[in-house]
Amino acid sequence: MSRSTHFSTAITRRPSASITSGLRAVDTGTPDLALMQADHDAYIATLKATGATVVELPPLEAFPDSVFVEDTALCLADGAVIMRPGAPSRLGEAAEMAPHLRALYTWVVEISGKNSFIEGGDILVTETEILVGRSARTNAEGIAELKHLVAPWGHKVREVLTPPGVLHFKTDCSLLDAETILSTKRLSASGCFVGYTVIDVPDGEEAAANTIRFNDLVLMPAGFPKTRDTLATAGFQVREIGNSECSKLDGGMSCLSLRFTPS
Ligand code: GLY
Repeated sequence: MSRSTHFSTAITRRPSASITSGLRAVDTGTPDLALMQADHDAYIATLKATGATVVELPPLEAFPDSVFVEDTALCLADGAVIMRPGAPSRLGEAAEMAPHLRALYTWVVEISGKNSFIEGGDILVTETEILVGRSARTNAEGIAELKHLVAPWGHKVREVLTPPGVLHFKTDCSLLDAETILSTKRLSASGCFVGYTVIDVPDGEEAAANTIRFNDLVLMPAGFPKTRDTLATAGFQVREIGNSECSKLDGGMSCLSLRFTPS
C-alpha cells in the first residue's frame, strides 16, 4: 500500500452558515448551506466506507472558508506542518487546526516567517517528492520554509507553478496512485509531471481534475461523465460526490479533508 494514497485518518470540518461569505474568484451564486451539508455528509460517509477514522470538527463561524481544511496543514507520515494561508481571511484557520494535529501526531512544526505564505491546496505529495505550486496564495518564502522543515524527514520539495488564474495547484491535478496523476491539459503541458503517468482530464471537464485517492476509492465531483468513465476504464473505483456548492467557492474534493496516518 502506498503511503501517498492510503491513510488511517481524515480530518474534516462542518461548513458554517458564514460559508455564504466565502472567498471566490467569480460570483456564480450564493452557496446553499443545506445542500452543502448534505454533500459533506456523503463525502464523510465515503471516507468512512474505506475503513478510515474521520474526525468531524464543528463549524467555525468566524472563518467562512474553514470547511476547506486542507489549506491549514500538510500531513505527512512523519509529522504535520501547520501552514500560513496566503488569504488574510484564512490565516487564523491554521491556529484552529493545530491542536487537533498535536493530539494525533508526535511531531508538529509550523510555517512561521511573517513573509511566508503557503496553503495546502498548492501541495501535491507523491511517493517520491512534494510538489508545491507557487500561486497567489503560496510564495517562494513559504515554499523555502517548508523545504527546510521537511528535509529532516527525508522529503524532497520541488517548486512548480500553479497555472495563472487557477486558485491552487491541486485545483488542476490529483494523485491517483503512486505513479499516476490526473491533470488538466493546461497543467500537464507545463512539463511538471515528467516521469509520472498522466491521465489528462477530457476537454470541458477541467473542474474534475481535483479528486482524491483515499484508500481503495477515488472521490470525484459529480457531473463529469467523461472523466468518470476514463478513471473507471483505467481501473479506479470511483465515487461521485456532489460539489455544486463548494465549487461556487472554488473548492473541491481535496479541499474538504486532511488525510494521513499519524506517526
Ligand atoms: N474559497 C476557498 C478559498 O478561496 O480559499
